[in-house]
Amino acid sequence: MQSFGIGLAGLGNVGAGVFKHLTQNRSLLRGRLGCELEVRKVAVRDVSRDRGVPRELLTTNAMELLDDPNVHIVVELMGQKEESLRLMLGAIERKKIVVTGNKALLAEHGKEIFDAAYEHKVPVFFEAAVAGGIPIIKAIREGFVANHIQSIHGIINGTSNYILTRMTEAGMGFAEALAEAQAAGYAEADPSLDVNGGDAAHKAVILASLAYGFWVPMEKVFVEGVEQLTANDICFAEKLHYRIKLLAHIKAHTDGIEVRVHPTLIPKSHVLASVNGVFNAIAVKGDVVGDTLFYGRGAGQDPTSSAVIADIAEAADALVSPRRNLGFMPHGLYGVCKPIDEIVSEFYVRLSVEDRPGTIAQIAGILGELNVGISSILQPESEDEGATVPLVLMIHKASNAQIGAALDRIGKLVCVKRPPRMIRVEHFD
Ligand code: HSE
Repeated sequence: MQSFGIGLAGLGNVGAGVFKHLTQNRSLLRGRLGCELEVRKVAVRDVSRDRGVPRELLTTNAMELLDDPNVHIVVELMGQKEESLRLMLGAIERKKIVVTGNKALLAEHGKEIFDAAYEHKVPVFFEAAVAGGIPIIKAIREGFVANHIQSIHGIINGTSNYILTRMTEAGMGFAEALAEAQAAGYAEADPSLDVNGGDAAHKAVILASLAYGFWVPMEKVFVEGVEQLTANDICFAEKLHYRIKLLAHIKAHTDGIEVRVHPTLIPKSHVLASVNGVFNAIAVKGDVVGDTLFYGRGAGQDPTSSAVIADIAEAADALVSPRRNLGFMPHGLYGVCKPIDEIVSEFYVRLSVEDRPGTIAQIAGILGELNVGISSILQPESEDEGATVPLVLMIHKASNAQIGAALDRIGKLVCVKRPPRMIRVEHFD
């Protein structure tokens, strides 16, 4: 039986899981793949730490994986920037297949990595980069090959979804919920990427690039995180029959695509509203297949290991029969990313206003002048005239430029006591 050698770079949470499950499920994999997958070298920072990996496999120099003729598949799980890029490009040059979960690196250097992959005709697989154990990369790359992808809406950061769930269901504060997610091992080494939307944006770039055949520049993606969300917003959203989720929105238009990540009010009745905790879910709509939905654990050792091992299996297959699609297939149908100002949506706006005659008239006047329509108003009854009260407006479809201009003017009114808070609304129509 053929045997393929794996070089594992990084033995953190995910790397250790990959080693464990490759070992535990060895005979299952052998039976399914018809070959042996053998870890032959493991690069770690500190060889003295016991991680259940035989000492003789360990090295502190990841670059050793490149020149070992017994390593055919390089699995990059270091999660670094320069060092990971050097390792991946070095592996490609030596015609070793690369498997990675490094979403930040792909989002920022995807073009460079795949230019090298095509030059050297070496596949790069990256299922673990998006949505943990959900096979969304393979689905978009292969399952939906017959489709123009019309839209992708996804909850693709487990940590922020965990935080929002705990804030909504347990009334927990932001910091406490984040600490729980960190303790469970879901958060990034730098958890600011989870809460500021950066991690979801990296994943959105990867999904959009795969779906639309060009590497979407990171700077074209509009990103807003969950740090500014308050219990008040969660509570008003509930009253209005919405849930707040950090969503990635990817859509095709005739004049370009949109890619954005931000907290979003979605109807409580929509299936994504019931995706809680560390779970991720991605709704993909194609012109042939129609609506589809993927659901599963988006973070954590085991689900992510499952995705990495699936890629290793695919790499083993590619070593036996070379392929044309090397993991990302560029094509020229799209190519432009629309700026946020041009993107149209509905909006939730929360104001702190003085409860006096004429307040609503002034606000409605500005919205009317800018051709922005109000679809509903919610103001809890106040005890005293003159008190500062919350005023929530639901806004009909408008461009981000229109609502931005309106809120600039509204925020300057004397009767408006704090900067307006705006959250986009999605009805998935
Ligand atoms: N920190 C990430 C998340 C891990 O919470 O989704 C998986 O990419």
